[in-house]
Amino acid sequence: MYKTLISMEQGVTRLYRVDVARELADRIYELWIRAPHVARHARAGQFLILRLHDRGERIPLTISAVGGDAVRVIFMTVGKTTQELASYREGDIIRDVAGPMGRPSEIGRYGTCCIIGGGVGIASAPIIARGLKEAGNRVIGIIGARSADLLILEDEMREICDELFITTDDGSRGIHGFPSDVLKRELERRRIDRVWIIGPAMMMKVTAGVTRPYGVKTFASLNPIMVDGTGMCGSCRVTVGGETKFACVDGPEFDAHLVDFDGLMQRQRIYLDQEKMALERYAERTCRCGEAGDHCA
Ligand SMILES: Cc1cc2nc3c(=O)[nH]c(=O)nc-3n(C[C@H](O)[C@H](O)[C@H](O)COP(=O)(O)OP(=O)(O)OC[C@H]3O[C@@H](n4cnc5c(N)ncnc54)[C@H](O)[C@@H]3O)c2cc1C
Ligand code: FES
Repeated sequence: MYKTLISMEQGVTRLYRVDVARELADRIYELWIRAPHVARHARAGQFLILRLHDRGERIPLTISAVGGDAVRVIFMTVGKTTQELASYREGDIIRDVAGPMGRPSEIGRYGTCCIIGGGVGIASAPIIARGLKEAGNRVIGIIGARSADLLILEDEMREICDELFITTDDGSRGIHGFPSDVLKRELERRRIDRVWIIGPAMMMKVTAGVTRPYGVKTFASLNPIMVDGTGMCGSCRVTVGGETKFACVDGPEFDAHLVDFDGLMQRQRIYLDQEKMALERYAERTCRCGEAGDHCA
């Protein structure tokens, strides 16, 4: 409620209202945000950048689904802004939602496609899987999490995919192991024409290594630190095939066999000290409205 009032006080005319807010798993949340201009144009593989309030930082999140005037985002709380976003409830207002951004996934008719989601990266899997299915492909889904309680969107993926494999690192659900293990087994058994990988950088690096010897075209959706999202600031630069690319405008999907994943992981860590400090300061503060944080300007 207070977030609605803040927005109206500031005379905001475009209201990005949270229609649905719920916790999907430990530290993983789903929000449906009403943003007609994003929903109208969004395609699989694209993302949005949101800013919670005037004092907030801009953070990129994948567009996980579209329904009418609203878009779905699914996120994990890893720092200050995602923690604050997790406190948003139905009816709350987000200050800015910019998008859709980035190049859409290369959806086409390839034959058999495999979509691999790891952890919160599973958020991006259904929209790509649906696009490929509608284009006439046979779609295999492989989704993995550390344990059963962290697994998300299983029912949705089961409904879209022709076949779905579940993995957990600890064996508490599905196959004991990693998505890359299942992919390797399936590549030995049959022809797969395209692979998409979305997840932590290390998981994408390992999985790209599995498809490389088979020569299967593989896309990875990269998540470097982004600031403006327009190709101007350079913070999202990644090395692909020896060339510098900006993930916000040239990606976020790239040929996984050409990505310098070690460079990506190194750059993801460059602000760790500042991020830790921001989270500690956020946790210590009590906002004017009585909640944690400092969102009321
Ligand atoms: C194209 C793209 C799509 C993404 N989609 C999702 C998604 O669907 N769900 C999800 O949970 N996460 C997604 N992320 C990651 C998400 O943007 C970060 O988790 C978020 O920005 C962290 O902000 P914070 O203030 O909570 O944490 P911080 O404490 O600021 O940072 C925690 C970690 O998040 C990363 N990060 C921080 N700031 C940014 C930033 N501006 N841009 C990108 N990464 C950052 C860094 O690796 C950092 O170490 C995506 C990132 C990109 C680039
Ligand atoms: S986020 Fe600034 S160039 Fe990509």
